[in-house]
Amino acid sequence: MRKKDFDVKDLSLATEGKLKIGWAGRQMPVLRSIKDRFAKEKTLKGLTIGACLHITSETANLLITLKAGGAKVVASASNPLSTQDNVAASLVRDYKIPTYAIKGEDSKTYYSHLNNVLDYNPQITMDDGADLVNLLHTKRKNLIKNIIGSSEETTTGVIRLKAMEKDGALKLPVIAVNDSDTKHLFDNRYGTGQSTVDGIIRATNVLLAGKNFVVAGYGWCSRGIAMRANGMGANVVITEINPVRALEAAMDGYRVMRINDAAKIGDIFVSATGDKHVISLEIIKLMKDGAVVANSGHFDVEIDMAGLEKIKKSKRRIRPSLDEYVLKNGKKIYILGEGRLVNLAAAEGHPAEVMDMSFANQALAAEYLVKNKGKLSPKVYVLPKEIDDKIAMLKLTSMGISIDKLTKEQSKYLSSWQEGTK
Ligand code: ADE
Repeated sequence: MRKKDFDVKDLSLATEGKLKIGWAGRQMPVLRSIKDRFAKEKTLKGLTIGACLHITSETANLLITLKAGGAKVVASASNPLSTQDNVAASLVRDYKIPTYAIKGEDSKTYYSHLNNVLDYNPQITMDDGADLVNLLHTKRKNLIKNIIGSSEETTTGVIRLKAMEKDGALKLPVIAVNDSDTKHLFDNRYGTGQSTVDGIIRATNVLLAGKNFVVAGYGWCSRGIAMRANGMGANVVITEINPVRALEAAMDGYRVMRINDAAKIGDIFVSATGDKHVISLEIIKLMKDGAVVANSGHFDVEIDMAGLEKIKKSKRRIRPSLDEYVLKNGKKIYILGEGRLVNLAAAEGHPAEVMDMSFANQALAAEYLVKNKGKLSPKVYVLPKEIDDKIAMLKLTSMGISIDKLTKEQSKYLSSWQEGTK
């Protein structure tokens, strides 16, 4: 491959990357079945697909699937800290997929990598956080005319895209992969749940049992985090702004309180709301000495890191992904993964079993965009329910689980209204 076709840390890491990609692939049977079909049908023949996703072993399996379908695939990272450098190296050396991603890249390099992807003039783009779509609508507008459509992986990205649609600013159709049931009910909940706890443990090795574990938000990601922390014996506290979600959290058995009150008792804090400055300086100042603070939302805005940098007396790295901030009053606060997505910065992201369904949705979104080329308006779409159900059935089959079918009589009953109380 030409030197300008990639920017990765070290190609000599490729051998361990390839092993990791193979291991993840073993746990991704749904994606594998799509890959086999794509390889036969050449579903994506002749297309260029630009992907801005976390460069992990699971994403590698998605990119390989798209390539098997006949597409030229080009990738960059969707977060400066989430790249697995060995996987990026293997994508370049073993799979000949142009890849621009280096763990720890600065913001300038991050955006130059996104531009590298767009330089290939893709007809389909894939985002995790809407950064490619954002560039396409700001600095690279001339490329939009070539684009069939995009797909978006995460809640935060979908919120952005819906805001663009509402403002009339969106100029291309987007599939909100996040909104498929087989994505958010599993990836956001069980994936974020396990990988966030994994990140906290890898960064700190603290015991969760008996700790006051504060989770900001009670969306699908927060639910997963709360459930897993609870399972490990932590005392989970939820903070919310949405009354229905707060009520659900309370009836799920968690303590629910205002974040100012939670700040005073928490040992570990995780924010997963998608909003900004949820863990503000005011909240940080209320925390106990030794509090551990992490972000599991897509962007690094949930903790006021810039504010913390300004008020700190000193800072030092204690372990990988664990920074100690000493405040003016001598109190120490521990920030994980520089306030970026803790599950990807301090661990390896979601396990392959859930990414199997998320990336089956991504692959089928690409196919859907091609099949419906020219028919879709510049709006945010969800994949049809039949595709969602198909993915769920394939996953169940791969797990050796069979389920029942409605009888004719039952189907008829469900679509009739004449039969009432007997
Ligand atoms: N998002 C969360 N976990 C991920 C993973 N393992 N690969 C790609 N994107 C992810």
